Amino acid sequence: MNADELKKQAAARALDLVRPGMRLGLGTGSTAKHFVDLLGRRVAEGLEIICVATSEATQAQALSLNIPMSTLDETPELDLTVDGADEVDPQLRLIKGGGAALLREKIVAAASARMIVIADDGKLVPRLGRFPLPIEVVPFGLEATRRAVAIAITASGAAGELKLRLRPDGSTLLTDGGHFILDAHLGAIDQPELLAQALNTVPGVVEHGLFIGLAAGAILAGAEGLKLLGR
Ligand code: A5P
Repeated sequence: MNADELKKQAAARALDLVRPGMRLGLGTGSTAKHFVDLLGRRVAEGLEIICVATSEATQAQALSLNIPMSTLDETPELDLTVDGADEVDPQLRLIKGGGAALLREKIVAAASARMIVIADDGKLVPRLGRFPLPIEVVPFGLEATRRAVAIAITASGAAGELKLRLRPDGSTLLTDGGHFILDAHLGAIDQPELLAQALNTVPGVVEHGLFIGLAAGAILAGAEGLKLLGR
């Protein structure tokens, strides 16, 4: 079974958690896209829910499937968010933001009573950091912010190169919020909490892709079936 089929399996299992009347957060990325597709089918069959999207892409997908959409202003408390991840460790700490949606993803996850990660089991790692850590920064003062981010990374005990994320055409990628992304190629993050705290203190950093204490559970699909972490 290929990775995309595994992603779909994880998404299908997450659908079992959805109850009529729920307020749902919808994630971003290829795995979350499967979940939204499957949810759209249930809505077409009569399921009543209200959803908030974590990106413009997911919003467009959900609207195309006639899924009722809201905003965090109208619906500030959500019951369940289902989202993908770039890495998951055994303590349910995550790296997210490979799809550049980390800021809205973190806001939506924090507004949810429960966040569940769906992924193929290749995303489960003993230690975070092989996947470059996305750090969302404001365009103003980019070079100064980049230096301050580098100092914060070193102070937390990690090390690695920072690369400004570009689009395939070579232009600078802009997030839905109009920010840039610095990808930190760290290789390994021994102390994610320390790094998260250090990044949170840097002016110009809007958000980073370390999600700590946000995911309640993970549904990981592999060749040998589904693995469930957490609750
Ligand atoms: C989006 O910004 C990311 O956090 C995604 O959730 C993450 O990149 C997972 O994407 P895939 O499901 O496509 O692997």
